[in-house]
Amino acid sequence: MLIDTYGRVATDLRVSLTDRCNLRCTYCMPEEGLQWLAKPDLLTDDEIVRLIRIAVTDLGITEVRFTGGEPLLRPGLVGIVERCAALEPRPKMSLTTNGIGLKRTAAALKAAGLDRVNVSLDTLRPDVFKTLTRRDRHHDVLDGLEAARAAGLTPVKVNAVLMPGLNDDEAPDLLAWAVENEYELRFIEQMPLDAQHGWKRDGMITAGDILQSLRTRFTLTPEGDAARGSAPAERWLVDGGPQRVGVIASVTRPFCRACDRTRLTADGQVRTCLFATEETDLRAALRSEAPDEEIARIWRLAMWGKKAGSGLDDPSFLQPERPMSAIGG
Ligand code: GTP
Ligand code: 5AD
Ligand code: SF4
Repeated sequence: MLIDTYGRVATDLRVSLTDRCNLRCTYCMPEEGLQWLAKPDLLTDDEIVRLIRIAVTDLGITEVRFTGGEPLLRPGLVGIVERCAALEPRPKMSLTTNGIGLKRTAAALKAAGLDRVNVSLDTLRPDVFKTLTRRDRHHDVLDGLEAARAAGLTPVKVNAVLMPGLNDDEAPDLLAWAVENEYELRFIEQMPLDAQHGWKRDGMITAGDILQSLRTRFTLTPEGDAARGSAPAERWLVDGGPQRVGVIASVTRPFCRACDRTRLTADGQVRTCLFATEETDLRAALRSEAPDEEIARIWRLAMWGKKAGSGLDDPSFLQPERPMSAIGG
């Protein structure tokens, strides 16, 4: 079991498979990209599967989410999913992706045992997409979404970040589109995890702003905490349901007290939190041929040190050194 000193138990593992990405979202990374991890520093497919096996069989992990960067850029993804689906007990598996490449891979991922996907899409307007992501790939994302739904990677969730002056007028349009297409839309408050360190609290669109904008066109009924569990999204029924909309308000309504996550970076570091300032090296243990029990012990010890929360509201808050794309979204 991965328990911390606040009594929280981590059952959800988020694994970053690469720090690379084929988009350049302005709230994430600069135009020129970042200094990517070198190949020898990345965990191999075998090392990833071994860590997930230890997490599932020895540490009580029941859900595994693959993230990035952009996880579809990892050549071995389908094989990793397939091998994890054979673990006992079989973990639930999901993927968080920008959707480019899903058209090509959705059916194979489903066949390999992936349960569902979350796709990032911030706008319905191709020109705004191009400004926001600095790439002209809007159509590929829409195709990817359809392929995911057709492959049965459901419920397909769509993550949207609103940026002032770019797409902050689009919340109701995005919701109307999501309801029509049976995607579960969630708005995410922008967090201070960008590589450029350009985040400003007074420059972000808050959960309050988003709800106010949505209520100009829809009736929203809260789902209540019981349905939420440890999920980061607070959810509302849209016009009486059955479709829902979520808001992930990491900044203005943090949910750290219910956090059930542990994270693994693409270079084999355990992170106890998105905002953790320290990491614990599992790669060194893996490569020194440590037995499973030793790796499990190091992981447990790391999680025991998990802080109470993100620290975003502390006057001394410091943004973590690694950006979101290197931590895993
Ligand atoms: P499901 O609801 O199970 O589909 O997963 P999810 O919402 O956790 O997954 P997803 O990868 O789509 O995450 C959406 C967003 O939630 C992320 O981009 C983050 O903004 C936020 N998020 C995920 N994990 C954490 C976390 O540990 N802490 C905080 N503050 N935010 C998180
Ligand atoms: N703040 C909030 N969300 C972010 N994402 C990437 N960077 C940030 C940030 N700084 C989102 C992406 C994707 C999800 C994994 O995280 O848009 O939907
Ligand atoms: Fe966009 Fe995610 Fe890539 Fe960052 S890692 S550029 S948010 S798709």
